Amino acid sequence: MKWVYIEEIGNHTGEDVEIRGWVFNKRSSGKVRFLLVRDGTGIIQATLFNPDKEHPLFRQFDALTQESSVIIRGSVREEKRAPGGYEVGIKDMETLQIALDYPITPKEHSTPFLMERRHLWLRSRKQHAVLQVRAEVIKAIRDFFDGRGFRLMDTPILTPSACEGTTTLFETQYFDQKAYLSQSGQLYNEATAAAFGKVYCFGPTFRAERSKTRRHLIEFWMVEPEVAFATLEDAIELGTDLVLFIVERVLSRRRADLEDLERDPKPLEAISKPFPRLTYDEIVPNLQKKGSAMAYGDDFGAPEETLVSEISPNPVCITHFPAKIKAFYMQPDATRRDLVLGVDFMAPESYGEIIGGGQRIHDLSLLERRLQEHNLPREAYEWYLDLRRFGACPHSGFGMGVERTVAWMCGLKHIRETIPFPRLLYRIYP
Ligand code: 4AD
Ligand code: MG
Repeated sequence: MKWVYIEEIGNHTGEDVEIRGWVFNKRSSGKVRFLLVRDGTGIIQATLFNPDKEHPLFRQFDALTQESSVIIRGSVREEKRAPGGYEVGIKDMETLQIALDYPITPKEHSTPFLMERRHLWLRSRKQHAVLQVRAEVIKAIRDFFDGRGFRLMDTPILTPSACEGTTTLFETQYFDQKAYLSQSGQLYNEATAAAFGKVYCFGPTFRAERSKTRRHLIEFWMVEPEVAFATLEDAIELGTDLVLFIVERVLSRRRADLEDLERDPKPLEAISKPFPRLTYDEIVPNLQKKGSAMAYGDDFGAPEETLVSEISPNPVCITHFPAKIKAFYMQPDATRRDLVLGVDFMAPESYGEIIGGGQRIHDLSLLERRLQEHNLPREAYEWYLDLRRFGACPHSGFGMGVERTVAWMCGLKHIRETIPFPRLLYRIYP
């Protein structure tokens, strides 16, 4: 018999097939036994009918516990009343292992309880749906950039210097030298962009953030495009198209997962170009009027991110931040030298910043000054300064956090469920 996956079961009606999976649930009614089997690609109802209660298959069925591993053989038929529309009439069954007392039952469990058992929790319907959406978002991102002629560049994870400020650096030993886990591949991508024109890197990044919020992970995945000769305007346009591409992809391919998550798709369906744009100077008084306690010159906190998302059903692009609150590499505005050409995309529905980026400094002496002002060790950045010595040009890019984007797509309160094994402030297990 042919081993098939449940997601393809519709192609096998009338055939005898083999399904290898785990017991999701079971029930019996009179002479019929119903087994819900999941195999990672779906869940199917398998039925066993026999007038004889002492039939060996019945006894085997009765011994099965939640998450026991089984091989089912039988014929596929359409069944409107079954979840998914198909069922398998069991002809033969093999039990590989009877699961011991599986801790995650259909009843409610606390988040700490589930996080401690994350390795098992992944099998639950909602967690499965979230990670399906995550995989789709990642595929969409790759398709978007590959389709536009961007070259994928894998930037290093072990680095000798900081990109996003020294306070969130993870230090490690690199033989007899100090090294840091990458906070962002951007600086390296500025080099690869000068070699390939338009590039992106996509990988894990690390921030020793002491903040315990629903928007922060210690280890998260970021996609970072970088384009030579591009301006802030070009970066905003690219980011807008990327967001739209992802939203459309999730809506067209992962509807069923959104349903499992009870995620109302309407706010996603409403996303359209252009996204509203406001400068920092414009938005701060606006937020203060709405009750924000932030002063001019402060960075946005969680309450501000929520207030911004009330401005529009679309993501909101905020630009022209005070240089003081942004990274050392940001290009100053031509007329207001105290402001930088940065952009943050704030997602709707209180999901906060999903994209941060902008235009980079391409002038050698200005960049040298900034390194000094930020107390960054010049030696570690010599290669980066070289990019301003040999064919300097305006260039721009941004980083999009995968987990925040997935949390928004799925309508999740907390980012911790958007990655298989989240690294959190107080959790590195499992
Ligand atoms: O705004 P950030 O810090 O920008 C950079 O790292 C730039 N070097 C990117 C670039 O221009 N190439 O981070 C970019 C995005 C944020 O908008 C957010 O979505 C995500 O990365 N992010 C986090 N996601 C989860 N947990 C954290 N601790 C995050 N920090 C940033
Ligand atoms: Mg940012």
